[in-house]
Amino acid sequence: MLSTKYIAIACCSIVAVAAVVGFAADDEEEKTYAPPDPKLKSFRIERDVSEDARECITCHADESRGIVADWAESRHAHANITCLDCHQAGAADEDISQSHFEHDKTAISPIVSPKDCSRCHPAEAAEYSKSKHANTLEIIWKFDPWLNAGMNNSIERSTGCEHCHGSVVKMQKDGTFDPETWPNVGVGRVNPDGSKGSCSSCHTRHLFSVSESRKPEACGQCHLGPDHPQIEIYEESKHGAIYHAQGDEWNWDSAPGTWTPGVDYRAPTCSTCHMSGVNGVATTHDVTERLAWESQAPLTIRPSEFKPFPSKTNWKTEREKMKNVCLACHSQTWTDGHFDRYDKAIENYNEVYYKPAKKMIDQLYAKKLLDDEKPLDQELEFDMYEFWHHEGRRARFGAAMMAPDYAWWHGFYELKQRYMEIERQYDHLMKTGEPAKVHEVPGATGSTEKPAFMRED
Ligand code: HEC
Ligand code: HEC
Ligand code: HEC
Ligand code: HEC
Ligand code: HEC
Ligand code: HEC
Ligand code: HEC
Ligand code: HEC
Repeated sequence: MLSTKYIAIACCSIVAVAAVVGFAADDEEEKTYAPPDPKLKSFRIERDVSEDARECITCHADESRGIVADWAESRHAHANITCLDCHQAGAADEDISQSHFEHDKTAISPIVSPKDCSRCHPAEAAEYSKSKHANTLEIIWKFDPWLNAGMNNSIERSTGCEHCHGSVVKMQKDGTFDPETWPNVGVGRVNPDGSKGSCSSCHTRHLFSVSESRKPEACGQCHLGPDHPQIEIYEESKHGAIYHAQGDEWNWDSAPGTWTPGVDYRAPTCSTCHMSGVNGVATTHDVTERLAWESQAPLTIRPSEFKPFPSKTNWKTEREKMKNVCLACHSQTWTDGHFDRYDKAIENYNEVYYKPAKKMIDQLYAKKLLDDEKPLDQELEFDMYEFWHHEGRRARFGAAMMAPDYAWWHGFYELKQRYMEIERQYDHLMKTGEPAKVHEVPGATGSTEKPAFMRED
């Protein structure tokens, strides 16, 4: 259990002395400006912590002040959770820092995985481990064309995909990290202890704050851009506009499970709708809850029908949960009206756009006018990819989250335009009977070997 026996509250003496600004005035010379010399914050531990744990804080207050300052502000420090409680390495840990061992004889592990956090937060870690976030590497390796056909290389992956999705963290023979895989805080990072994910994707170290994760910026670092512009969509929505106008005055810090619409805040954030406990809907660390559609897929389906990672949820139950969130601030009619329109937008995308375009593409493959050896090496393959992966998602997400500019101008409008482009190339290939040009794709040298952790099946 936690050691709550502390004798005095740790105090940080903030002696921000406004330094005297001196001017060395000399008749002959120009005036020189002497920079101020503010006193730095000092950290004192006046608590019952072990000698080893105390040493971490004392030495790191010099070595890496930012880390100790964040920790000192955190709920963890308040509850007497020390550096050692998270970083102490177990005997079997692969990731013991060798260089650290040379100057400090306590074995520490630089990675603090969800398994480490689960010692004290078992519920959050268990929910998280079931989520698409935690399992994303397995999901994307099951079907993603960039990875499975090696269409991008390792530097493109480590600075792009893996930054958001996570890397498989590898140690080198000399006990240091393989720099291709570390540092990394992607949502589905595979840790040396086998656990999946990184809790600091949303709760950055060393504050590990619940308020940070409740703000949309915590999600927007990954949920942005042409293919999943949720943060842009949010900013455009009335909810986002209210957040920007008034969010500074809201209470972000209320205790878990007690963050209340109408009391602590008056417009929802990503967290309110997808994760926080609201109006009888329990807090969750599994973001597939509350979803009725798998609207990022080429053809929109139910989450339980998503083959690479079928959810165990029933879409009707999840839709009710999401509606209950809305009902904290809206009427039933308003809420039902929104979802009625959203479901019709999904149908419109599936039937009017995706299915007919897919039919043309399938025909071209069948007639060998498109080459199916590799994905994404012909112009039309790129057009079809952007059709569902960019414009098609924007139309659906814009309709889901109240952003008319994304639903129409960045969505259905561009789908029309791209449809015509696909049709133009289709007509041309059918008319000439000449197969489409296959390009030599630059940088298409990535490994196609699936990571070891998923090889069993
Ligand atoms: C005598 C000073 C000193 C003490 C005591 C000390 N550290 Fe460090 N620590 C450092 C320095 C210097 C570095 C950066 C160089 C390195 O990685 O060895 C560092 C690095 C680290 C890292 C990052 C390692 C990496 O590979 O990225 C962690 C985590 C860490 N310390 C945690 C701790 C913990 C936990 C304790 C207490 C058990 C502790 N330190 C005690 C000086 C110290
Ligand atoms: C609640 C758990 C927790 C506590 C308490 C904690 N850390 Fe960490 N620390 C982490 C996590 C998580 C990371 C990021 C590594 C990762 O992604 O697994 C980290 C990273 C670090 C790093 C490497 C960061 C970098 O940018 O190079 C250092 C150094 C470090 N911690 C030192 C400390 C020190 C010193 C303390 C105490 C003042 C401390 N930690 C307390 C969880 C913790
Ligand atoms: C040794 C036990 C322990 C470990 C290990 C631990 N925590 Fe905590 N954590 C606590 C306690 C105790 C609290 C305070 C609960 C409270 O104030 O209600 C807390 C609070 C939190 C909060 C809420 C902070 C807030 O602003 O209200 C978050 C988020 C959190 N921890 C994340 C983590 C993460 C992520 C890890 C792993 C990197 C971790 N914790 C590791 C014990 C621990
Ligand atoms: C900026 C962060 C970011 C980068 C970079 C990124 N992704 Fe993603 N990816 C996401 C997010 C966020 C989603 C979830 C989209 C949604 O649900 O709207 C996603 C979804 C996916 C999916 C769909 C998963 C599903 O459940 O259907 C695949 C596959 C995928 N990404 C693969 C990749 C690959 C491969 C790369 C690199 C070539 C990459 N991503 C680069 C953030 C990123
Ligand atoms: C995708 C972003 C995200 C990730 C990753 C994440 N959290 Fe959270 N976490 C949140 C949000 C949002 C809340 C706020 C819920 C609320 O409003 O109470 C939260 C709240 C918490 C709390 C406060 C208690 C509660 O349930 O509200 C703890 C403790 C916590 N998280 C621990 C963890 C741990 C441990 C991990 C890793 C296993 C983790 N989180 C990973 C977003 C995340
Ligand atoms: C570090 C990057 C990152 C952060 C931060 C992040 N996500 Fe994600 N998110 C992803 C990726 C990657 C996926 C796609 C996972 C997959 O399907 O393989 C995803 C998928 C999702 C999904 C779709 C789940 C499904 O079943 O299709 C939702 C909803 C979601 N995230 C919500 C959030 C919320 C809310 C936050 C902030 C509290 C957040 N995410 C923070 C990267 C991130
Ligand atoms: C007002 C509530 C609300 C807010 C705020 C909100 N969302 Fe959503 N989100 C929804 C609804 C409703 C859906 C569609 C649910 C369904 O499947 O029926 C959705 C869908 C999604 C999806 C698509 C999942 C999939 O694969 O189909 C992702 C990803 C997502 N939201 C992430 C976010 C992020 C990130 C933010 C903040 C930047 C955010 N949401 C803000 C309500 C909200
Ligand atoms: C915390 C309270 C809160 C929650 C929860 C909430 N909303 Fe809202 N919503 C508002 C407020 C406030 C407005 C602004 C009303 C106005 O225009 O005066 C608003 C506006 C809207 C609008 C109007 C958008 C426009 O541009 O005219 C729609 C549609 C909407 N919400 C749908 C939803 C749906 C659907 C959900 C649940 C997925 C939801 N809201 C959840 C508070 C909330």
